[in-house]
Amino acid sequence: MGNSLWYKNAVFYEVYVRGFKDSSNDGNGDLIGLIEKIDYLQELGIDCLWLLPIYPSPLIDDGYDISDYCSILPDYGTLEDFKALLDAAHKRGMRVITDLVLNHTSDQHPWFQAARVNRNSPYRDFYVWSDTDQKYQDARIIFLDTEKSNWTWDEAAGQYFWHRFYSSQPDLNYDNPAVQNEMLSVIEFWLELGIDGFRVDAVPYLYQREGTNCENLPETHAFLKRIRRFIDDNYSDRVLLCEANQWPQDVRSYFGDGDEFHMGFNFPVMPRIYMALRKGERAPLVDILEQIPDIPPDSQWCTFLRNHDELTLEMVTEEEREWMWQEYGPEPRMRQNLGIRRRLAPLLGNNKRKIELAYSLLFSLPGSPVIYYGDEIGMGDNIWLADRNGLRTPMQWDAGPNAGFSRAIAEKLYAPLVSSQEFGLNQVNVAAQRRDINSLWHRIRNMIRLHKENHVFGWGEFRWQDAGNDAIAAYWRTLSERSLLIINNLSPDSQNIRLRMPEACASEPVDLLSGRKMGKFEEGDLVLKLQPFQFLWLNILKI
Ligand code: GLC
Repeated sequence: MGNSLWYKNAVFYEVYVRGFKDSSNDGNGDLIGLIEKIDYLQELGIDCLWLLPIYPSPLIDDGYDISDYCSILPDYGTLEDFKALLDAAHKRGMRVITDLVLNHTSDQHPWFQAARVNRNSPYRDFYVWSDTDQKYQDARIIFLDTEKSNWTWDEAAGQYFWHRFYSSQPDLNYDNPAVQNEMLSVIEFWLELGIDGFRVDAVPYLYQREGTNCENLPETHAFLKRIRRFIDDNYSDRVLLCEANQWPQDVRSYFGDGDEFHMGFNFPVMPRIYMALRKGERAPLVDILEQIPDIPPDSQWCTFLRNHDELTLEMVTEEEREWMWQEYGPEPRMRQNLGIRRRLAPLLGNNKRKIELAYSLLFSLPGSPVIYYGDEIGMGDNIWLADRNGLRTPMQWDAGPNAGFSRAIAEKLYAPLVSSQEFGLNQVNVAAQRRDINSLWHRIRNMIRLHKENHVFGWGEFRWQDAGNDAIAAYWRTLSERSLLIINNLSPDSQNIRLRMPEACASEPVDLLSGRKMGKFEEGDLVLKLQPFQFLWLNILKI
């Protein structure tokens, strides 16, 4: 497609293949099902699909525990199906990236199976072993609810092995050049097939060094740069997206000097969006955006509201975490590890205006937005399912049997549909929202269109505009002559505001979202009345 910076201005959609559409009627979504629905994604305006892991796996961590890096989980289909998906996407000008899990394999991977039974196997050194469980004590435990240590004793191996996630996910040993080379071959395999890049999983943890917290180490950056070099030397238009759930300076380090990742999830901003929405104040956003460092010009943030994991509260203070738990996870069952296992719509009390406001922030703050499947129609969750499965229930396409997800009998579905009064298939489904011009789906579709049409969002500067009112998050997005003034009322009350404009402006700003003229200028001030949770994307002509 010949546009190497396509990701600067793209809208991403995170797909859980098992939950999207079942074409074979076995109760599991699959790649052919996703192809059947690709026109839907195009209609929504999606530029790039990010597929959660699609590889063979014992599924202890829903596919993030890989037992074969170069084929497809049979439930999901075949490599041929995958190629057909790439063709279908590329024909429509859409791209596809997949999850790349570098840090660990499944304990069922043949490398680990060979390693554990034979100290002389070349695969022994693919993993990190120790006679004691006392090394690297400064490394935190991530899956706090289930893991007591980052070391697990393996009887057959007669040693402990190192793992940052579930004990069924042994970490690979990147000090071993053979491991680096194997993973580069995996990367090559998928790029040769034609994928457009990777969302690289759990990157901070690749190396261990005594006396450190074993995160963000220089050796880790060096290997990631090697991947980038390999891609730049051999391919064009591909993207590397970094999952590093870290504080701003540490996330920043993964962009390098424009020679590491093209993109990185903006983990620090995400929980502050929820804080701002709950407090009805812009302060949490102002604080965090001040701390976000500049990134190299060809790089881009990925902004998101929710994803397939718990809403992580690792990158907030303890006090903020307690507050978030109280406000957004009042039931113990809603809490998981250091986070909250709920979807967007339930988190925001299923308040449509508030959900739209959250999307206004998502689409107008700096970065390329990522939408989590189902959140475009405000799907609910099921906190009673194990682990994070309650965020991964079948997509609700229509009000028919199994919500149009599958023709299997309901008992056969990989997970039950959400069936609550509020979020069941009669209340929330794609077909109904497509028919209703005022639905959340149509609002989001409109924002996606505007985000893409207005390059200020992907490329422009960001600058706060003082509104003299703590409830208002107002900011400029500018790119050369073009200026948009985004105004979000975070409060549940209507607000009369008066904005002192930095420069003289022509009269009658137009709201891009509605096409309506909004507010008026009085002595150089913009005077407006905003409804509860109302937001405007104003096109302002400067004189
Ligand atoms: C990432 C994934 C998460 C997974 C973990 C271990 O954080 O988002 O789903 O459990 O890595 O692979």
